[in-house]
Amino acid sequence: MKYNSYHFQYLAIFIFGALFFSNIGCQQSADVTHIEIKPYAIQQSAVFDSVAVVSAHPLASEIGKDILRQGGNAIDATVAVHFALAVVCPRAGNIGGGGFMMVRTAEGESAALDYREKAPAAATTDMYLDSLGNVIADISQKGHLAVGVPGTVDGMIKAHARFGKMKRFGDLVAPAVKLATEGYQISKAEADRLNEYQEVFRKFQNETSPFLKKGGWKSGDLLIQKNLGKTLQRIENQGREGFYRGETADLLVKEMERGGGIITKEDLVNYSSVWRDPIIGDYKNYRIISMPPPSSGGICLLQILEGVEDYPLAEYGFQSPESIHLITEAERRAYADRAEHLGDSDYYPVPVEKLSNPDYIRGRMADYDAKMATPSDSILAGNINISPESFETTHTSIIDAEGNAVSVTTTLNLNYGSKVIVEGAGFLLNDEMDDFSAKPGVPNFFGLVGAEANKIEPNKRMLSSMTPTIVEKDGKLFMVLGSPGGSTIITSVFQVFINVAEYGMSLPEAVAAKRFHHQWLPNTIMTEADMTIDTVALKAMGHVIDPKVRIGLVKAIHVLPEGKLSVSGDPRHADDDVAGW
Ligand code: DON
Repeated sequence: MKYNSYHFQYLAIFIFGALFFSNIGCQQSADVTHIEIKPYAIQQSAVFDSVAVVSAHPLASEIGKDILRQGGNAIDATVAVHFALAVVCPRAGNIGGGGFMMVRTAEGESAALDYREKAPAAATTDMYLDSLGNVIADISQKGHLAVGVPGTVDGMIKAHARFGKMKRFGDLVAPAVKLATEGYQISKAEADRLNEYQEVFRKFQNETSPFLKKGGWKSGDLLIQKNLGKTLQRIENQGREGFYRGETADLLVKEMERGGGIITKEDLVNYSSVWRDPIIGDYKNYRIISMPPPSSGGICLLQILEGVEDYPLAEYGFQSPESIHLITEAERRAYADRAEHLGDSDYYPVPVEKLSNPDYIRGRMADYDAKMATPSDSILAGNINISPESFETTHTSIIDAEGNAVSVTTTLNLNYGSKVIVEGAGFLLNDEMDDFSAKPGVPNFFGLVGAEANKIEPNKRMLSSMTPTIVEKDGKLFMVLGSPGGSTIITSVFQVFINVAEYGMSLPEAVAAKRFHHQWLPNTIMTEADMTIDTVALKAMGHVIDPKVRIGLVKAIHVLPEGKLSVSGDPRHADDDVAGW
């Protein structure tokens, strides 16, 4: 592999990309010109003939492309990218977390893989409450008690077993073993982030942690993760057994015992990812295929799309007060349903059919007033905290030459998950337990409230907002997309799709366009910094505007009418990179 020659190999492409972006409109140029030359040059968008990969790191995208070159299909490439991200994107890429994968084969078969973490068997409904019944938020977000039973390794094995073309699963892990063992040069963004977290790392990691560095990290430093390399090697050689049993499992359980966590060997042995029926619904002549519970993504996305379908969005104009108001009202209703009705359908009778029924959704919009905001219930007001901290999930979209498509979103939840690293095994553990509703009506990190449907129960999966999505148009593959961003994932995916489908934008324009978000509670429209919208008109309708740093980091592929693939990372994230041919 040619990691050391990235700088030169891609410099020309990078310069071309920068020139391209600086010429496609004010929103894009403002965002893109800050991209610096790092150890790896980045290409954030391209049009390829037949094969496209987009991920959160150039080394991962390149590994995906290599697997496709070797004859692997989109699923093989996804698995290899996933393991690579566990090394080069330590804040979100993972083997200690979980995620969701949407697959659409060239023949049009679609499948949804749920490899979401599960609560340990010893988890209890009130495990994050103090003696007065108040939520102790910190322990569901940091440290050993915050950790759900990881699902990634089982998920990748199942994905490969069902859809992969490469014979040996281990060959898809091998590139990650090499990256972890030999190390790679970190970008400025990664160095800054690692420096920011040194203090909290020191609380949960000891001197063997590869992330601690006296004097701090700088761009271009080599990050070597020897213990992670050994763990990945065990997965390469032994598959599932290399993670859920034997040395890795022993080390994980030992780590739990050291820090007061509750995951046991039985939890690990019992973990299993699940194939589920995708959520499928129509918006005009588009078919939306997305993630069912335990993600809220598919149902909420469909509810928002169908909520606006009967109105002339394009005629209202891009981000005009009329269109922002309409979308906000559809979002408000979808997130209100999310809070009440959504959770793990293996544990709670989620009314999936009803919630995604077009008549039901139209009924929800029956009290829509085109002139006035509908008040949300202010009693349960959430306290959202969207900061750059909260962009730590990662999404990958891939289409191969045969036309197989994969949309996969994976996470440790917050930046570097629980901040706990498994000593001797070198991987970070998630803090996904915070996605449960620790107490009815009390918001989690993302300001999301929940109820019975998403309460903590042993072995249950916590509700997610991850929305890996595949869209067909007139029966043909049209778009593959997804995003990090916690609660804002769903609305980010919605907006990028609408920007292309309704406003006729190119994919890079659609991804770069500023975004807004409403989630019922808190009752505010969150807007990205420097957004040019008519706040006076929106306030007159009764909306409260709440500016945020940024919303979502979408990575998407759009199949152009002539069959070429327009692929785009998000200019909000300097390391997003596309690869293909
Ligand atoms: O599953 C979820 O919805 C969250 N755990 C995702 C977290 C996330 O997206 C964090 N940052 N972007």
